[in-house]
Amino acid sequence: MVLSSTEEQKEGQHDSSKKKLHFVIVGGSLGGLATGLALKALGHNITILERNPKPLLQDQGAGIVAGGDTLEFFKRYNRCNRPLAVNSYARQYLDREGNIVHKEEMLQNMTSWDLTYNLMRANYDGVESPYCEVPDPVPGDGKAVHIHDRNVTDIKEELSSDEGGGVRVFWKSSQGDEGSILADIIVGADGPSSTIRKLVQPNVERKYAGYCALRGTMPEEQASEETRKTCSERFTFFHCPGVQILTYLIPGKDGTVEPGKRLLNFVYYTNFPEGSDELEEIMTDQNGRRRPITMPPGMTDPQAWEKQRKLARERLPPQFAEIVCGTNKPFVQVVTDVLSLEHEYWGGKIVLIGDALAGFRPHTVASTSQAAFDAMIFADYVDGKVSREEWKKQTLGFARYIQKRGVDMGKHSQHMDLPLEDHIHDRNVASTPRQEEVYPEWATAF
Ligand SMILES: Cc1cc2nc3c(=O)[nH]c(=O)nc-3n(C[C@H](O)[C@H](O)[C@H](O)COP(=O)(O)OP(=O)(O)OC[C@H]3O[C@@H](n4cnc5c(N)ncnc54)[C@H](O)[C@@H]3O)c2cc1C
Ligand SMILES: *[C@@H]1O[C@H](CO)[C@@H](O)[C@H](O)[C@H]1NC(C)=O
Ligand SMILES: *[C@@H]1O[C@H](CO)[C@@H](O)[C@H](O)[C@H]1NC(C)=O
Repeated sequence: MVLSSTEEQKEGQHDSSKKKLHFVIVGGSLGGLATGLALKALGHNITILERNPKPLLQDQGAGIVAGGDTLEFFKRYNRCNRPLAVNSYARQYLDREGNIVHKEEMLQNMTSWDLTYNLMRANYDGVESPYCEVPDPVPGDGKAVHIHDRNVTDIKEELSSDEGGGVRVFWKSSQGDEGSILADIIVGADGPSSTIRKLVQPNVERKYAGYCALRGTMPEEQASEETRKTCSERFTFFHCPGVQILTYLIPGKDGTVEPGKRLLNFVYYTNFPEGSDELEEIMTDQNGRRRPITMPPGMTDPQAWEKQRKLARERLPPQFAEIVCGTNKPFVQVVTDVLSLEHEYWGGKIVLIGDALAGFRPHTVASTSQAAFDAMIFADYVDGKVSREEWKKQTLGFARYIQKRGVDMGKHSQHMDLPLEDHIHDRNVASTPRQEEVYPEWATAF
């Protein structure tokens, strides 16, 4: 299959900001959809290529902290009328016995990956779901196409007779079909193991950070009264050497935010030294297959998980032990680091955004915000509202600075024995609104 840029491209050549472009976005997760939404609102035509062989990405059912840029993104581009998040009213820390030892008021918005994804699909290409009603199309929006089972394998610059030319994107399907599509600009939104990044920057590596995040959810109605009383609508933490665990409430089935039907989401960071038997054990699924990065929900080996439950009861406060042991479909994510050197290549014909640009450690709670921010500022740049220099400075500053912050937070929480105040400080710093961040010179130099 070959698609090419539309005729409309030739219109308005004297006013480059009005020229309709064809963007091919590689990766149809939150970053790709956010970019597609922002660019189609400018009237450009978008094709998203997603390698997953199924039409909808399978969620892992877990939570996302909706930071300022995620909320701003939804304010700008979401036209579905429904709540986006569950509020958390305070941040608090427990001791080993489960007593609250520190608490501060703090309003935060907690959502779920599946609600975010389904809202974005409803807005991008009108996918129906129980999560929301599909909004009416907006006149003047560009064409928004999403094609699944398109594993992008290569890109090639193509010079055409008229000015510009484009980039050809090559894909393979799970059935062995092959094809290509021509883009004016390619956006690599293909995550921390980005193929696009590897093609333009083969030396950038994704590295293991020495620990994993055990994750899962438990329906709030199944939790004991004591646990609900402590954890409901509060962002709750516990630290001890080599361990950090946190929990917050997120929307439940089909995105419901109705009290009683929400989910207690937990993220439990615990160390598994590189090359250790423990790491092999937790990342080998119930069929004996070693998973490199993610152990999908429900696939953990029952014996390996039982060991984690026992450890949880031994070392965690009772509320956390209850939530970890009460989850039916735990999943595991290996924590990694990756940072691209640049965010645009080939004279701006290739742009990286989100996790493909910088894979943050989850402590930063900034991955979705980064994707949302990168999408918004890229659209503003394409629209002529911000200069190339400003776009570069803001995008790279965020990527480099928050990537380093994640590494530091991880080092403090997993590999040092620090007083609680230090972890509280790290957490508070991670809540700085992006507009108030002061990026050091190394973060914005290019
Ligand atoms: C299925 C799924 C579930 C997730 N669930 C959660 C969650 O519950 N909580 C949370 O905090 N974060 C979750 N994440 C991660 C979260 O989406 C990201 O951390 C963040 O939002 C930035 O997103 P991203 O789009 O930049 O990268 P990612 O979310 O990693 O998306 C990259 C996308 O690119 C696709 N892709 C990769 N290579 C190719 C290729 N060669 N050709 C075509 N497509 C390709 C992948 O299949 C994937 O859909 C999930 C990601 C996925 C893919
Ligand atoms: C979260 O949502 C509330 C409204 O429900 C809002 O007032 C608040 O500012 C939001 N918090 C953040 C961090 O954006
Ligand atoms: C995508 O293609 C690459 C390179 O050909 C291959 O290694 C990988 O397994 C493919 N992934 C999927 C999900 O098809």
